[in-house]
Amino acid sequence: NLIMRSAQTIGVIVPNLGNPFFSMFIKGVQSTSRERHFIPLIFGANYDEDLEGYYLQELIKRAVDGLIIASSSITVDAIDNILKKNGIPYLLIDQNGGPSLDSVRINDQRGGQIAAEHLLALGHKKIAVVMPEDPTDNLIVRLDGFKHTLAAAGVALEVENTIISPMTKLGGYQATAAVVKQAPTAVFAVNDEMALGLIRGLHEQGIRVPEDISVLGYDDIDLDDYVVPKLTTVHQPVVTMGEQATTLLINRIQKRQLDPQTVELPVELKERESTGPVS
Ligand code: RIB
Repeated sequence: NLIMRSAQTIGVIVPNLGNPFFSMFIKGVQSTSRERHFIPLIFGANYDEDLEGYYLQELIKRAVDGLIIASSSITVDAIDNILKKNGIPYLLIDQNGGPSLDSVRINDQRGGQIAAEHLLALGHKKIAVVMPEDPTDNLIVRLDGFKHTLAAAGVALEVENTIISPMTKLGGYQATAAVVKQAPTAVFAVNDEMALGLIRGLHEQGIRVPEDISVLGYDDIDLDDYVVPKLTTVHQPVVTMGEQATTLLINRIQKRQLDPQTVELPVELKERESTGPVS
């Protein structure tokens, strides 16, 4: 259908539009789409496999030219049966650890290592981690980098140092009691939203951050600069991730026979105020 083809649309599925991490990702998707004269159709899958499958089908019915999938609930079967069968170019990223021809890679192992090195340099040994129950592949790698770096420095992270809670602001807030009970000198929250929720919870308990407990996040979302104390975190270049994912996808749409394209993007420590030396 010529009219649909000329529409030049890409479908984008992210896990959660309420998390600024993904709205920043979308910002990158939008700016590159605009430069390349494509229109993105964006959906938040809310960690719901059915919803994600539904959007996928609908996007394909509407003849999108390609897809960027950052959510993990899509199954390998769905990728094989829907995307591959229909010959639609796609790029999997972030929470989606599945293989795609083109990829934008973020070194989560290194990110976890940076997080651990920062806390170790401040003298922390009693460290807790706040993470979700079913971590996606990228989080598993992130935590692996974190744990290995601690272990290499002789700091053990026991199972009981791991606090399980949903990966949201509320999840971080709800982890407060468990954190207080453990009384670590530092907490690594696997994303910023959790870290921000936890900081509020600690504040309500009269616990000072970072004097009593340091809190380290991961992502570098825009809110980090607007909380007290400002959040120290591991920066992910998420706007660039959105731009690069879109660039690679559109390159692929426009030239199917391109060699596989891979872009690697760095992570780095963004030191603000929520971490400090052990007192
Ligand atoms: O905040 C969302 C988190 O989930 C980020 O750390 C990102 O990498 C994703 O997997």
